[in-house]
Parts: sequence; C-alpha cells; structure tokens
Amino acid sequence: MAKRAKPAAKRGAGRSKLPKVGAGELLTLLDFVRYAVSLDLITRRVTTRKPAAYLVNKIYMRGLPFYVDERTIVPRSFIGELLDSHFGRQENDEYDEEDGSLVGDPASIRSVLDLCTGSGCLAILASRNFPNAAIDAVDISKDAIEVATRNVGDYGLQDRLKLYRGDLFKPLGGKRYDLIISNPPYVDAEGMADLPRECRTEPRLAFDGGADGLDIVRRILDEAEAHLTPQGGLLCEIGRCRPQLEAAYPQLPLLWLDTADSEGEVFWIAAADL
Ligand SMILES: C[S@@+](CC[C@H](N)C(=O)[O-])C[C@H]1O[C@@H](n2cnc3c(N)ncnc32)[C@H](O)[C@@H]1O
Repeated sequence: MAKRAKPAAKRGAGRSKLPKVGAGELLTLLDFVRYAVSLDLITRRVTTRKPAAYLVNKIYMRGLPFYVDERTIVPRSFIGELLDSHFGRQENDEYDEEDGSLVGDPASIRSVLDLCTGSGCLAILASRNFPNAAIDAVDISKDAIEVATRNVGDYGLQDRLKLYRGDLFKPLGGKRYDLIISNPPYVDAEGMADLPRECRTEPRLAFDGGADGLDIVRRILDEAEAHLTPQGGLLCEIGRCRPQLEAAYPQLPLLWLDTADSEGEVFWIAAADL
C-alpha cells in the first residue's frame, strides 16, 4: 500500500613521454588520463563542448552503464537514487518493514510506468528495484526510443520492459500501474534561453517545459490518477519548479524527497491523494 504524504611542473611537460594505454588496460587514474589524451577526447570535449557521455557513448547511473548518443538526453535524474533510498532495494535484499518503503514491499509491485523515458535508464533501474514488475516506458521521440531499445536489449529486458513511442499516456489506453515514475522536460522559457552550451548539444525536446516549465508536469498530474491502481503513487522530478507547482496545486499534499545533490526537486504523491 502506497504511503501517503503528510500535508505539508611546467604545463605539458613530459606529456609526449607518457606511454599510450589501450581501452582494455585502464587501471589507474593516470591510465585514464593517458587514454583520454591519446584519443584526443579532451580536445574534443573542449572544442565541441559535447557532454563527455556523448564522446564515449556511455554513462553510469547507480553503477550501471548505459549507452547514450545525441539522440537522447544525457541521464542525470535524481530518481535513480530515490528508487534505492525510498522504495526498498531490490533483487537479493530481504524486504524489511523498517526500511520505510513508500510502496510497501517492492516485491509486491506488479507494474511500473516510466513516462518520458529517454535512454530508458530509469525504467531499467526500476526493473532492479521491482523484480516482479512488468515495466512500460514511453517517449515521444523516435530517436530516444531507438536508444532506449538498445539499452533494454543490452540488459536482456525485452520480455519485461516494453517501450512505446507516443505522447505521455496516449499509447497506453486505459492501463493502470502500481507506480509511475517520470523525469519530464521542466525547463522554463527563461532557462531555455539561458541553456548552457553543453545542453544545447542535447535534444531541446528533453528540456523544454514551456513558459513556466510545467506544461508536461501539469498534464502528468492531471492524468496520473486515471493510470494508477488505488494503492499506487507517482514519483516525478520537476527541477526548480517547486514554487510554481505548489502555487498551481495548493490542495495536493506533495511529499518532497531530497537526494545527496538535490532538495525539493522530486515529489511523491499517493494515488489516493490525487
Ligand atoms: C528530461 S528527459 C528525461 C529522460 C530520461 N527519463 C532521463 O531521466 O534521463 C525528458 C524526455 O521526455 C521526452 N518527452 C518530451 N515530451 C514528451 C511527451 N509529450 N510525451 C512523452 N515523452 C516526452 C523527451 O523526448 C525526453 O526524452
């Protein structure tokens, strides 16, 4: 049963003397530096300003590697950490009521939806937290779905994790889920005008949340109840939009969950409170 929120040396010296290192022989930090220099990665990072993850086609989340390229945003969501810290962990761990999971025993979660899945990273992480769940993941971008398809294949999850291309809940019909997670676009117009150069090499669609950043979040909140089981709940990241969101939905008892690097950027709400 989902828990409900209560209201409320000289530069460059010696560089040419460093022996070159192959990708399969990286052991020490110095090996990684030599590898990057010998492959011109550092030069490309500085001149193109592309995120390093695009240059090496890889990023790690919660210790797991995911393939990424320019077709999808570089994963940075706080939701991966929250799945571990607030939803009970996973596979071989015994569930203990004292863990205080927001959804009770994670093994009892039968269905999870990841809206705005991008590379599929959060859906794949969720498959580890909820070992008995069938997982659906949606993205409107054909490019993102292609990247997600590759990642789902890399993790051998084709039978348990289904990808849909479409607009939020639309491709899902009337389906309901025990848990909905989402890291949607939530950058407001001012933020979009000021987007750092690195982010401008990423798909605009992944950031653009409309004038106040909440265009997609509002739709998720308005439609989530119709897609949650009675004991379910919604976990949604909204960046710095908390003031706007609380002003727009003063009646909702949103529970704000913090992580090591964020405060008040992700909310939880039980289906019963929607
Ligand atoms: C901030 S990214 C998050 C990607 C991934 N979940 C992550 O955390 O790395 C937002 C994603 O939402 C997708 N998106 C934007 N509008 C959408 C819509 N109306 N329906 C479904 N997906 C949408 C974008 O294509 C992008 O992949």
